[in-house]
Amino acid sequence: MKFSCNNLNALLLLGLGGLIELSDIRILCGADPTDGFTYVPLTEANYIIQKPYDIPVEQRYSCVNGTHKFWVYADDKAHDPGSLTQPRTELRVIGLDYSSGVWQFEGHAFVPNGTSGHTIVQIHGAAHGNTTILLRIFEGNMRYYSSDIVATNLYDKWFRLNLIHNVDKGKLMVFIDGELKFQIRDQGPGDLYFKCGVYAAPRNISYYMESRWRHIKLYKM
Ligand SMILES: *[C@@H]1O[C@H](CO)[C@@H](O)[C@H](O)[C@H]1NC(C)=O
Ligand SMILES: *[C@@H]1O[C@H](CO)[C@@H](O)[C@H](O)[C@H]1NC(C)=O
Ligand SMILES: *[C@@H]1O[C@H](CO)[C@@H](O)[C@H](O)[C@H]1NC(C)=O
Ligand SMILES: *[C@@H]1O[C@H](CO)[C@@H](O)[C@H](O)[C@H]1NC(C)=O
Repeated sequence: MKFSCNNLNALLLLGLGGLIELSDIRILCGADPTDGFTYVPLTEANYIIQKPYDIPVEQRYSCVNGTHKFWVYADDKAHDPGSLTQPRTELRVIGLDYSSGVWQFEGHAFVPNGTSGHTIVQIHGAAHGNTTILLRIFEGNMRYYSSDIVATNLYDKWFRLNLIHNVDKGKLMVFIDGELKFQIRDQGPGDLYFKCGVYAAPRNISYYMESRWRHIKLYKM
């Protein structure tokens, strides 16, 4: 369903009909996805960098002038010797795991042309499966896991991503540059936390994968 704020009356009717929440209309038609949210400070104590276990972090991650750069190669090792997962270099938010309420991740991301098949942001944890949402870049387009298209033509430019998780209502919303692009149900509550960076998909990956992030912020309602 495509939302437009041009006809607020129609939206309100949908809201009153229970199709969409009035609180969502406020978010959709508000000036900003963060309206009504409270900023949650994120210090260096609130994240760790996961990277291929056999190499130093400097070989897969840098932070210059507030820009975090993450990269990984298709034949890199997993983050843990015991893990059978695909290679990753990810910032894992710590100390702010959640299991209820309404949480929001925000960041400005940049994905270089030619790097493909990587999850650049995810919510780890769920009642069913290991993750609530993975947002992957394939050929410059963002997909929900490897399926639904969330946004297109994202290569070689900075874009602002806002990911809202309403755990209580079991809902996820993805905004790109302030515009609602995608929403879907979550996969049930769990030990939930945000991650961003690069995490290789099982298939269709480029040999080299990269994303850059800045202004990473968390909010809750
Ligand atoms: C860091 O950011 C400042 C201000 O945006 C800019 O002038 C400077 O060139 C940047 N330095 C590097 C190493 O990117
Ligand atoms: C990405 O690179 C390919 C190959 O060089 C080029 O054809 C394409 O136009 C580039 N896409 C963007 C968005 O720059
Ligand atoms: C969850 O992760 C574990 C350990 O990495 C893995 O063995 C399992 O297959 C994953 N489950 C799903 C549903 O992906
Ligand atoms: C992955 O590659 C296969 C075969 O080339 C293709 O059919 C499929 O659409 C690709 N999937 C994605 C998400 O790019």
